[in-house]
Amino acid sequence: MNDVERTAVTTATWPAVGAEPAPALQVEALVKSFPGGRRVIDGLDLTVAAGEAVALIGANGTGKSTLLRMAVRLVEPDSGAIRLFGEDVCAARGRTLSRLRSRVGFVFQKHNLVTRLSALSNVVHGVQARRSGPRTWHQAWARRVDREEAMACLEAVGLADRAMQTVGSLSGGQSQRVAIARMLMQRPELVLADEPDASLDPRAGEEIMGLLARLARDKGLGLVFVSHHMEHAVGFSDRVVGLAGGRVALDRPAAGTDPALLEAFFDGPQATERVVPLRRVAMGAAS
Ligand SMILES: Nc1ncnc2c1ncn2[C@@H]1O[C@H](COP(=O)(O)OP(=O)(O)OP(=O)(O)O)[C@@H](O)[C@H]1O
Ligand SMILES: [Mg+2]
Repeated sequence: MNDVERTAVTTATWPAVGAEPAPALQVEALVKSFPGGRRVIDGLDLTVAAGEAVALIGANGTGKSTLLRMAVRLVEPDSGAIRLFGEDVCAARGRTLSRLRSRVGFVFQKHNLVTRLSALSNVVHGVQARRSGPRTWHQAWARRVDREEAMACLEAVGLADRAMQTVGSLSGGQSQRVAIARMLMQRPELVLADEPDASLDPRAGEEIMGLLARLARDKGLGLVFVSHHMEHAVGFSDRVVGLAGGRVALDRPAAGTDPALLEAFFDGPQATERVVPLRRVAMGAAS
């Protein structure tokens, strides 16, 4: 990149002094079908502010995972716009796309850790968002600053004392904590978490969701998490967004929302009608 291009990118990317930060994620008129299938996402609009925590709910197959994957173009949309931190994800190529992706941390239901390696080595891998090479492969070869940062990430998830234990010998909840520590090591600005509480027992699931929400809030990170537990959706977010029919069919503040009421969202279109109008009451909209 020459100096002119670099200046252009810098000017386009950085907000002016005193300006509101760009939304962490902005999706407009998004459409996605899979070959031979129906439209999974059908004109979806969604904006997640910087630092906002959004719970994404919806029945199986409504496209929640597809939406999260499309946000970083692990799945290509058919049409529509996606912006991360104000930058056009769909136009990004090569290093620009890698750089954008590196600003987003993912936590999945299944943790995708290397089970034969220690917790610490797995967390060190998170630095690969910024740098590659053998010194990012194993804690023993890692730069001292990286090893120290990885230890601090393990400390943040309450697992400093398990640093040298292989992930294969940890419990499901502990492994998910390691996955969160690895994600923190990436230094993301937005966290996308797809059912991080799903494979865990109720207590561990709640602890993981609580930990993720607290870390995101303390570090000022945006957070979009999918959960089928309505108590988690309400308890750990600022805002609950429900998908149905390929679009946002429910969007309301978490505060004051009864988790039991959200269960009705899963009962079909008529029930959705009963749930959605409450948003207008809760948000005080006069229309
Ligand atoms: N790679 C793919 N190829 C074909 N169809 C797919 C693919 N990925 C997802 N789908 C389909 O798209 C729809 C939405 O899937 P998605 O996994 O996004 O749903 P979801 O809301 O995350 O569901 P769940 O709550 O079960 O996780 C489903 O019908 C699924 O079968
Ligand atoms: Mg899913």
